[in-house]
Amino acid sequence: MHNVRKVTDDIVWVGASDRRLALFENIFPIPRGVSYNAYVLLDEKTVLLDTVDAGVGGQFFENVEHVLSGRALDYLVVNHMEPDHCAMIGELVRRYPEVKIVGNTKTFVMMKQFFGTDFPEQTVTVKEGDTLAAGRHTLRFVMAPMVHWPETMVTYDETDEVLFSADGFGSFGALGGHIFADEVDFDRDWLDDARRYYCNIVGKYGTSVQALLKKASGLKISVICPLHGPVWRKNLDYFFEKYQKWSTYEAEDKAVVIMYASMYGNTASAADALAGCLAERGVKKIAVCDVSNTHVSDLIGEIFRASHLVFAAPTYNGGIYPVMENLLSDMKALAVQKKTVALMENGTWAATTAKQMREKLGEMKDIRILDAQVTIKSAMAAGQGDELAAMADAIAAELCEQ
Ligand code: FEO
Repeated sequence: MHNVRKVTDDIVWVGASDRRLALFENIFPIPRGVSYNAYVLLDEKTVLLDTVDAGVGGQFFENVEHVLSGRALDYLVVNHMEPDHCAMIGELVRRYPEVKIVGNTKTFVMMKQFFGTDFPEQTVTVKEGDTLAAGRHTLRFVMAPMVHWPETMVTYDETDEVLFSADGFGSFGALGGHIFADEVDFDRDWLDDARRYYCNIVGKYGTSVQALLKKASGLKISVICPLHGPVWRKNLDYFFEKYQKWSTYEAEDKAVVIMYASMYGNTASAADALAGCLAERGVKKIAVCDVSNTHVSDLIGEIFRASHLVFAAPTYNGGIYPVMENLLSDMKALAVQKKTVALMENGTWAATTAKQMREKLGEMKDIRILDAQVTIKSAMAAGQGDELAAMADAIAAELCEQ
């Protein structure tokens, strides 16, 4: 059964959601599923903007066929060549052999790598600012390299003021009938997944996102059509502001996230004790995460969100407890910056984790490490209350200031 929705009078969403896939990119858990969005513009010419992942190809073709209602497909615009969007290009060309494929030079290099051909007889190569006249609508192409692959571009419909934004402004999460952000409680139900998607998929490329935001600021945008998650047609500034913060690595919340790794519960106990001390000092936004039992992509989302972070971990084989080391490596890979950090370490005979975590954090930009540090020898001793209090005081002084 086809499953489509109108975005504007002439633009129809023809995407599909996958609720069976466990790991996006075979890395990221997606308990709420994921949508792969594609759009058809119906004008004097018909234009399909992107395809979908192979996992939902059947639904996608049913949707496209229904929307075209027997018309030919004139153009396919390829904004992004990652297989979650390009996987159906080969099959599309078999079904619509006359289709012209629109992309930039890098698009077609990747197309040849993925498909063994770049379909040389039917390509239209575009560059920054080029346009495609579809009839009443004119599509303008805007290059967006490294958001989040080098060939990425976005397409702007000058007539309906629609930005087809590729991975930008996307989110994890399947769409359930409501395809528009204003039809759901985005802040309650979607924001965490949108942040987790951004930070883990695009987070490293903040400078590239900033370049795209600058270009977007020169366009009058009424609708944002991303390749994943809800379409935006109201309150666009809300999401632009989130992207502004995320892409400049500014914290969204004045909040503290305590991330602990604990082998037998003693480091966990100290982390909880710190959380209690913070609460007693009036800190409202406190989150405590067990690094061993929280997926690193969720931790990265929390790290992007919060201004203050506490890392608590034992020494292991002379190094940092592995799950914490992995988290710190991921932070560096995703260019995390502008955080205030406190460190807790635990070691029964060689507590060296704080020193090693400090060194890893030193490889990142603008990480301020508080002087207050807690060293646990196996388990917090009764006399260590002052150390914990000093750390809590230092954090609370910054989070509770008026
Ligand atoms: Fe949703 Fe970069 O692909």
